Amino acid sequence: MKAKPTPKKEIKKTSWEEFYKKPLSKRLNYYSQKGRLFDCLFSQQFDRKLLDYFFTLATRIRTIAKNKEGLDWLQTLLSHKRAMLYFIQPSTRTFLSFQSACYILGMKVSEIRSTSTSSELKGESPEDTVRTFSSYTDLIVMRHFEEGFAEKTAWMLNKTNRPVPVINGGSGKDQHPTQALLDLYTLNWAFNDKGGIDNKKIAMVGDLKRGRTARSLTYLLSNYKNIEFIFVAPDYLKMGDDIKSYLKRHKTKFSESDNLNKSIKNVDAVYMTRIQDEYDINGESKDIDYSKFHLTEDSLKLIKKNTIIMHPLPRRAEIDPAIDDDPRAMYWRQERNGMWIRAALIAHIFEVDEAILVR
Ligand code: NCD
Repeated sequence: MKAKPTPKKEIKKTSWEEFYKKPLSKRLNYYSQKGRLFDCLFSQQFDRKLLDYFFTLATRIRTIAKNKEGLDWLQTLLSHKRAMLYFIQPSTRTFLSFQSACYILGMKVSEIRSTSTSSELKGESPEDTVRTFSSYTDLIVMRHFEEGFAEKTAWMLNKTNRPVPVINGGSGKDQHPTQALLDLYTLNWAFNDKGGIDNKKIAMVGDLKRGRTARSLTYLLSNYKNIEFIFVAPDYLKMGDDIKSYLKRHKTKFSESDNLNKSIKNVDAVYMTRIQDEYDINGESKDIDYSKFHLTEDSLKLIKKNTIIMHPLPRRAEIDPAIDDDPRAMYWRQERNGMWIRAALIAHIFEVDEAILVR
């Protein structure tokens, strides 16, 4: 039986508004239990040791799943568990890779992909909706347009008699921690014979203001030694001050530029992103010349011969499809890695990780 978090008495009495006002560092331990994640909501929940462990676990799952006997065995591990995928923002990869990760571990999956098919259309509050999921499922994976709603759900459920873990599959403009995990898993793989992730120079390109994947990955990368970031963005879409002060506090080097060609010359990885115009307030993206933040075949001549190119996808024109077959293009690998690392995360939450590692 999985241990559930025992909320401290004072938290039980605290309102969400009061709790949410506390600095994140003071809220984090509410989402872990016995040194293990219960809810996965933020990149700041991971340290270097936990990241290394997830990479090992994901690779182990991938190896075991290679043959029928192994996959059949993995599918027995959580065959008694059910997951709800509540994705009310569009999603292809995150949804499918979580669904596949659940299948790998034998979980049964339900889904809601729009508030137009749930009782929210009848006026039910989002809070009541997600509480309802906990009556039928053992895990909630959620993608929501509102920053903080995944955390609110976790906070709320942890106070009930049937807390179920909540995984954040994208919370508005704020965070996308499992995307950051798969990005980092990919970087770790790509730099395996180049001294690992430490000492690498990484260009983050595009809509860094509203791109939750770039934000979450930046947090995770600050766990590594001597990382150097170049944030390449149009003026209006520059990386947020919250991230920049976090990096300063963690003594991680960064610089900013709006010149893509200059910035990518000497880096080890280029992380491209799409303009997040769904968050426009007044159509402001239309006034931005985003083509300056596109990688073309010509850009390939500027980067080093082993610089890797990443993108969380979906892409528009940020990466010319002609680049896809270049060995430095890593985005399709990233996509598949998402399934393995998400299976590892679920295995960890449900405490079947040991069994996997010793098999
Ligand atoms: C990203 C997202 O939803 O934040 N996609 C993903 O999960 N792979 C990136 C994006 O939509 O631009």
